[in-house]
Amino acid sequence: MQITVIGTGYVGTVTGACLSFLGHQVTCVDSDVSKIEKLQRGESPIYEPYLEQMLTLATERGGIAFTTNLAEAVAASEVIFIAVGTPPLPSGEANLEYLEAAARSIGAAMDETRFRVVVNKSTVPVGSGNLVEALVRDGIAEAHPGKRAQIRFGVASNPEFLREGSAVADSLYPDRIVVGASDEQTLGVMRELYRPLVAQSFEAPAGVPRPRGMERAPLLTTSLTSAEMIKYAANAFLAMKIGFANEMANICERVGAEAPEVMTGIGLDSRIGAKFLNAGAGWGGSCFGKDIQALLHTAREYGYAGKLLQASYEVNCDQRQMVIQKLQEKLRILKGRTIGLLGLAFKPDTDDLRDAPSLHIAARLLQMGARVRAYDPIAMAACRAQHGDLKIRYCETVDELAADADALVLITEWAEFRELDLGRLARSMTTAVLVDGRNVYQPEAAMAAGFDYAGIGRSGRTNGRQVKLAAAS
Ligand SMILES: NC(=O)c1ccc[n+]([C@@H]2O[C@H](COP(=O)([O-])OP(=O)(O)OC[C@H]3O[C@@H](n4cnc5c(N)ncnc54)[C@H](O)[C@@H]3O)[C@@H](O)[C@H]2O)c1
Repeated sequence: MQITVIGTGYVGTVTGACLSFLGHQVTCVDSDVSKIEKLQRGESPIYEPYLEQMLTLATERGGIAFTTNLAEAVAASEVIFIAVGTPPLPSGEANLEYLEAAARSIGAAMDETRFRVVVNKSTVPVGSGNLVEALVRDGIAEAHPGKRAQIRFGVASNPEFLREGSAVADSLYPDRIVVGASDEQTLGVMRELYRPLVAQSFEAPAGVPRPRGMERAPLLTTSLTSAEMIKYAANAFLAMKIGFANEMANICERVGAEAPEVMTGIGLDSRIGAKFLNAGAGWGGSCFGKDIQALLHTAREYGYAGKLLQASYEVNCDQRQMVIQKLQEKLRILKGRTIGLLGLAFKPDTDDLRDAPSLHIAARLLQMGARVRAYDPIAMAACRAQHGDLKIRYCETVDELAADADALVLITEWAEFRELDLGRLARSMTTAVLVDGRNVYQPEAAMAAGFDYAGIGRSGRTNGRQVKLAAAS
């Protein structure tokens, strides 16, 4: 099929590459010229494992092109994906200006030569399916006033569930594909588009193996509104699950239980499941906070308070502060202290810093008069470029980060941080304090290496008296 994907960010680039890998002819469009130029050179505008490899395979398989010319791409396509950003406004509402511009331009570029499907992949407030349809109609009416009746199109909502860091695998081997549409012709086009994914009929690309036992990907068809709601409900649930683990961890600390043990204990219950139960310094990223706020906003518009959603959001805000509190407990005074942040990206295997806990923690520490250093294997360049206001000293190595520092704080659980020589780091520091914001280390091993260690929800064996005894002996 001839496909256009509008927006070459985290979602659009991966979607375009994967659809082309499946054999479709894809044109990716962005209004940002620098992103398109990078893609034309074969470079990915974002850090995402296996994406550049997929772009190369895409060129060989179905064919993939990159352009800023939306009209030309839409005119030649049967399916047009919208994957533009929907960032939050100060009120919590989703900013729909990019979506609106894209939908109008799509309408203006259509003609009567074929039936087209406009697929919304951006996360948009419930009801936006109809909004997209109305805006496409506006675009048609403005550009072709006499041909409104002849220009045929359908609208589908196809929410995206990929996770940054494993976006290629998530796109090729999805847990489910959700398509919301109100007419059979549109649904038929979407079923045809996703046939290779549903049947898993393609050969897995090198490095991105098919999960064992995966034979098909379920395709769930729903109403437009349900599809939009599924995206919000899924993110709200995941955010709540992590928030729950964090709240339990905070209680564990007080009563002397070990949060990882408790979470393993509840995660083995098949009704609960083990994933997304790691206590830590809180979730971040471009989606959870924004989507919870947008859902709260929608609920309020309908006179509903959304108390559970509000609590999930607040628990997470407090959790970021927990790291500062632990540093205060260990060092007492933070003014003038040197704190090294291990990791900046909101999660491993991405360079995405949107709503990253590291930014909040760094800003708070700087405000309190601490000196902040940071090391991240991938996200330092992005942080320098996007957050020049944060007076962080960027370090080339973890050794440089630790040298003469007063504390290290692990914020992003990059794989390389699991392999650190903790003893060497501890010896190079002024005071060897380690706040493990993701519970990556074994407390006993960190203490044996010479660290005064604090994890999240691990006070039973690792904080207070026992740590002091370990340090004294
Ligand atoms: N990032 C994720 O992990 C993720 C996961 C699921 C869903 N989503 C949703 O998908 C959507 C896109 O997210 P993202 O992270 O890829 O955003 P992004 O900011 O990385 O990318 C959006 C791109 O759209 C481009 N754009 C904006 N207006 C345009 C226009 N009129 N014409 C052409 N290009 C235009 C921007 O230049 C940018 O490159 C959002 O609604 C988000 O909530 C994101």
